[in-house]
Amino acid sequence: MPMNIAIDGPVGAGKSSIADQVAERLHILHLDTGAMYRAFALHALRSGVDTADWAALARLAETVDIRVQYADGAQRTLLFGEDVSGVIRTGEVSAAASAVSACPAVRARMVRAQQEMARKADMLIDGRDIGTVVLKDSPCKIYLTAEPAERARRRYVQQLEKGDTTPYDEVLRALIARDEQDMHRQADPLRRAEDAVLVDSTHMTQEETVEAIVRIVEDVYGKQ
Ligand code: DC
Repeated sequence: MPMNIAIDGPVGAGKSSIADQVAERLHILHLDTGAMYRAFALHALRSGVDTADWAALARLAETVDIRVQYADGAQRTLLFGEDVSGVIRTGEVSAAASAVSACPAVRARMVRAQQEMARKADMLIDGRDIGTVVLKDSPCKIYLTAEPAERARRRYVQQLEKGDTTPYDEVLRALIARDEQDMHRQADPLRRAEDAVLVDSTHMTQEETVEAIVRIVEDVYGKQ
């Protein structure tokens, strides 16, 4: 059985970068499932499909070709063979990804692909439904969160570094709106699995958070 680790949590909890570092420490792959929903959202936007039209999204989900590859340990997300890893990081795609991920047919398609990958390799997977759906039988689940104001602050600083001057209040508002959508949708909403260990990083540095998660993994799987 491969070693599978589930990390879930809300937007801005630092899941992606923390998961990257933990996976590196453990010498395993990190699958960022949000990138797959983002790639699907980009496909919907490019196809002119309304992201609230579930029937049309379900049709797109039947034919979409989203693959994940690794180059030097880093994930590349491919949409019909095109590397879209960079272009899926815009605000427009973020909002569309949150919308399309509410569609059950889209989720079913993504979950199947993620479970197939997890069966083949040791993998740390991060997302919203990993502990509750994708890896619901995993013995190692983490729910990583932080207070909304702190998550928004981190996002704001990150965006500023990229030259995006969106005011803090607006970043906080968008983050709360995405929390709301991700936690209250009908299909597999974001929630902490009963057997997930809670890590609240509000008052922790990145290094401390990585260390805490590595320790949780070692408690389950032994020292790597
Ligand atoms: O983690 P992220 O911000 O890149 O995710 C983009 C969107 O995809 C997010 O709004 C929620 C959705 N998502 C999901 O529903 N299930 C996952 N496993 C991962 C992401």
